Amino acid sequence: MKTQVIDSLQCAVCGARVPVDQPLSWRCPQANSDDRHHVLHFVGAPSANNFQPVESENPFVRFQELLAWDAFAAQHGTSFGERREFIERLDVQVAGVAGVGFRRTPFARHAELSRVLGFEGTGGLWVKDETHNVAGSQKARHLFTELLHLVFAEEKGLAPWGANRPELAIASCGNAAIAAATLAASVQWPLRVFVPESVDAVVLETLRSLGAHIEVCMRQPTDPAGDPCVLRFQEYVSRGSLPFGVQGTENAWCLDGGRMIGLEMLEQFPNTQQLQRIFVQVGGGAFASGIGDALRIAEVQGTHLHAVQTQGCSPLARAWSRAEQTGGTLNAGARWSECMWPWEEVPTSLADGILDDETYDWISICDAMTRTGGFPVVAPESDVVAAYELAQKSSGINVSPTGSAGLAGLMTYIAQNKGNYEQENIAVVFSGVLRS
Ligand SMILES: Cc1ncc(COP(=O)(O)O)c(C=O)c1O
Ligand SMILES: [Zn+2]
Repeated sequence: MKTQVIDSLQCAVCGARVPVDQPLSWRCPQANSDDRHHVLHFVGAPSANNFQPVESENPFVRFQELLAWDAFAAQHGTSFGERREFIERLDVQVAGVAGVGFRRTPFARHAELSRVLGFEGTGGLWVKDETHNVAGSQKARHLFTELLHLVFAEEKGLAPWGANRPELAIASCGNAAIAAATLAASVQWPLRVFVPESVDAVVLETLRSLGAHIEVCMRQPTDPAGDPCVLRFQEYVSRGSLPFGVQGTENAWCLDGGRMIGLEMLEQFPNTQQLQRIFVQVGGGAFASGIGDALRIAEVQGTHLHAVQTQGCSPLARAWSRAEQTGGTLNAGARWSECMWPWEEVPTSLADGILDDETYDWISICDAMTRTGGFPVVAPESDVVAAYELAQKSSGINVSPTGSAGLAGLMTYIAQNKGNYEQENIAVVFSGVLRS
């Protein structure tokens, strides 16, 4: 018998604890509109060592017992089999809208990219391809655990809204919004999306076709620093709608599903070899947090995590050096105001999906980079462009510039001659499809 050891969520800033069985535990109970510097993390994640995955191609079924959602649902009196059926039922509904359900995505050594980048035969570049995942990016993985939580709470009578479901809400200009609209449509749950004026026409059309309500947000003269879409979203949530986004600060349950991609990669990587590095593009930071947490719970040794941002917007790299100067990069949460604040200039890059002016989930990424001996990389725009062109020309994957930005970080790392990478195994995630 395995026992569930995820028993609570704990704020990485103020230390407040919330039991895992508490429904709708999106935010730290101490967070409020004047003090948003709080974020809940799952405590006591089960060790993935000796863990026997379920025979399934669906990662949420395969790693079911490693999900915090599984601990939440177990504590409300459901059996292992019932929980599995619950996941599979929602997956079928998602597939009804997306055309595909959640299935393990490819992860393999890429011979051509390895050759072009100068790797030797004993090492290589490993590419995880998320472009055919539900809604064309990794974002739906984060949102699926929020959906599981919401629908379970509703069906078990744990939610206060009865027959009058509040609207879901998200601030995003791209992949996360499309993933949220896909998952919301799969359960006919109304969704409001807060987008910037610069939103891409294809994204807008996709959101409309999925039935999302769209609010275009302009910066108001009275707005404080920060993304106006996030400000409007926060106001809307404070009036009673439900956060359905991919920022751990607004809904911690996105961090649960985010771990599945990392667990999947670690299982797919041959256990006869060593994976030395993973370069992960960082916007709001939930994505890299999930991969960092997977490294922790799988107790992997010797794999360094590198967070990649662009020169046009790199608040995480700034936070990392501020944390180094103010007491260290581990457990820096209590030093939030000293380390992390919105990027002052208007963020620009071809990799426009990672231009979040604040890295909301910075604490766990700093923790993971510290634990694994990694560090952040800031890619100059020339590398962002070069990585995208190389990926489009030589990878055979129709990846977007945001999706190939981890590769840009690797190219910057190589150019800075930080080590003898040629014999290493290094991973990147092509995280999103090019939409046109
Ligand atoms: C394709 C793609 N990759 C990576 C990211 C970065 O994820 P996060 O914002 O969780 O850091 C995004 C975010 O929008 C994205 O769309
Ligand atoms: Zn807190």
